[in-house]
This record gives sequence, structure tokens and C-alpha cells, in this order.
Amino acid sequence: MFTPYKAGEIEIPNRVVMAPMTRSRADENAAPTALTATYYAQRAQAGLLITEGTSPSADGLGYARTPAIYTPQQVEAWRQVTDAVHAAGGRIVIQLMHVGRIAHALNQPDGARVVAPSAIAAAGTMWTDKGGMQPYPVPHELTIAQIAEVVDEFAQATRNARDAGFDGVELHAANGYLPNQFLAPNTNLRTDAYGGSIENRGRFVLEVYDAMAAAWSADRVGIRVSPGGTFNDINDPNPKATHTWLAAELAKRKPAFLHIARMGALDFDVFATLREVFPGTLIANGGLDFAGGQKLIEAGTADLVSYARLFISNPDLPARFQNEWPLAAADNSTFYTPGAKGYTDYPAYPA
Ligand SMILES: Cc1cc2nc3c(=O)[nH]c(=O)nc-3n(C[C@H](O)[C@H](O)[C@H](O)COP(=O)(O)O)c2cc1C
Repeated sequence: MFTPYKAGEIEIPNRVVMAPMTRSRADENAAPTALTATYYAQRAQAGLLITEGTSPSADGLGYARTPAIYTPQQVEAWRQVTDAVHAAGGRIVIQLMHVGRIAHALNQPDGARVVAPSAIAAAGTMWTDKGGMQPYPVPHELTIAQIAEVVDEFAQATRNARDAGFDGVELHAANGYLPNQFLAPNTNLRTDAYGGSIENRGRFVLEVYDAMAAAWSADRVGIRVSPGGTFNDINDPNPKATHTWLAAELAKRKPAFLHIARMGALDFDVFATLREVFPGTLIANGGLDFAGGQKLIEAGTADLVSYARLFISNPDLPARFQNEWPLAAADNSTFYTPGAKGYTDYPAYPA
């Protein structure tokens, strides 16, 4: 866990990665603030930081107070974050997250719309600051021409991330957001080249990945998947087939990394299965502790291990692992609330 590693062009001093986490502290322009710079700089001893999901466009925003990277002002605001992390000795990758149908107009800028592969609303409700809990809307089904526009938005956001000083970019193809909505048969009922077979359902993800790699460099662009995950009303009856195919396609492209979020109960070992077809840098995530992560690295199943919730309340998580210091518990009532409380006020050990 404490030996250095090189993921593409990114030099990493230890294997402890901070997983992407939405914290809902962006300002009214969907830009990060000085508080966000402090939050990530506090965690800079992570081998690699991966930011909260950040939208490549107005349509890709869907939750309250989440950030984006499509306006010059947002790019500048992210620059203060990358500067603070680099000054603290860290490395930081931005997660590009287009929420697709997991959105509500009350959480979106004027003129934006809720889009998806097919016009099927997600089951359930979501929080809006303006109107409390709201049912998910029926999304607009993207036309072929509009799909190409979304691909371009990801490419432009990748250039913006490079300009903002990031060390790389992660495509969020997990957890039921737009790329995952294309991959899963219950959210993608298309009968054109983007729906039906695994190859067709995977077409959007690979087009986006390729556009991002062309916009910067494949060894600066990683991708996150969550095979078999059911979060956000996703249902893939054969996640093993879908994701083995996708990981093999990605392997040909030599991405900076493949980040696997293990979600829920699966009837196959997701890390070992994808490792068989993906020899590149593999990041394992999902309910792991130090010993669990160490085991995956020793077995060669993973190269890096990412931790989400532990990093909320333990800004110095690598040092705590290394020195066997006690771990602080996170307060989940402040995961998504504005302000410093539960965000930048967890101390390093010893307090
Ligand atoms: C507060 C919170 C916000 C999250 N936001 C994101 C996100 O923006 N993007 C993402 O890919 N995963 C997100 N996740 C999922 C985590 O990255 C991770 O997969 C999950 O928490 C399991 O890892 P853990 O057991 O180490 O916490 C979030 C998780 C939490 C707890």
C-alpha cells in the first residue's frame, strides 16, 4: 500500500486513492469555492485524489449544489483547487459526471434539460433546494445528433480540466448516470446503433472515452464502472457479460486506469473477473478496509485501492493506515449540507 506506482503519466507515491464523492458545496454558478480547495488540500497525502462528480455541461447537472467545468469561471475556480492540492504535494483527477435522467429542472441552470438514452423516468424522488423532494421527471430522449453533441461536451470538459491544472480526468460510467444509462438494458430501449446488443449499448461510453482521450491523452483519462450496481434504478440482468466486454474494449485503449466500484451482492468476483481481461492499472473500491485493500494489491488483483467514506472523516487516511492510528467515524448527516461543518473540520491525527 505504501510503494510508489505509475498510472499512465501520473506518478503516485502510495496506493491509497480518495474515491470520488459528491459533497454539494458548490456555489450558485456550479463552481467550487476556497472551502473546496481546503478540503482537497487537507487530503493531499492520498496517492491520488479523485474529485466529486463534475458536470461537462448544463444538461449534465442534476443535483443541488454540484459543480461543473464548462464555463471559464468554473475552470478558474477549479484552478484554485488544483493549485492548493499541488502546493500541498498532492495529485488530483477530476471526475466528469453527466447525470442524464437523475436530475430535476429545479436543480438545473436555466435552459438546461434532463436527457437520457430513452424517455423513461427513474423510480423515486430527489432533493431540490427550491422545492424539496421531487419525483424524477421523464427525460428527453437524445437524438443521434444530440448524442454527438454530448460526446463533444465531454471532450471540451477534458480540455478544460487540463487547462485548470488537473493531473487527469475520470469518466464516470458507474452508479446509474448517463453512460451507465446507455449500458443498461432497462434504461436504454433504443433501436438504433446505440441500443440493443452489448456493442450498441456500449457505443456511447466508448465514443465518449475516445473523445476524451483524443482531447488530452489516453494515459491521462481513466474510467469508473459499477458492474451489477442497482443504484439509481439500474438493472442489467447480465453485468458480467456487459462489463467483461467493456473492460476488454477499454484495455485496447490503454486508459490511465479502470476504477471498479463494487456495489451490492454480486454472484461473481468483480475485481478478479475484470482483471482477467484488463491488464492495465486497476483501482478497486467498495466497502474495503486497509487489510482488504492490502490483500487485493498483494494478490495482484488491484494496483490501487480507493476509499470514499473513510476519507471524509480521516483527511490523513494514508498516515492512519500506515501507523495503525485509530479511524474517526463520519457523520452522514453532513455529507451533502453546505458549509464547513462535516467537510473541512475533521482533524488530522493526533487532534
Ligand atoms: C457522500 C458520498 C458521495 C458520493 N459521490 C460520488 C460521486 O460523485 N461519484 C462517484 O463515482 N461515486 C460517488 N460515491 C460513491 C463512492 O465513490 C464509493 O464508491 C462508495 O462510497 C463505496 O466506497 P467506500 O466503501 O470506501 O465508501 C459517493 C459516496 C458517498 C458516501
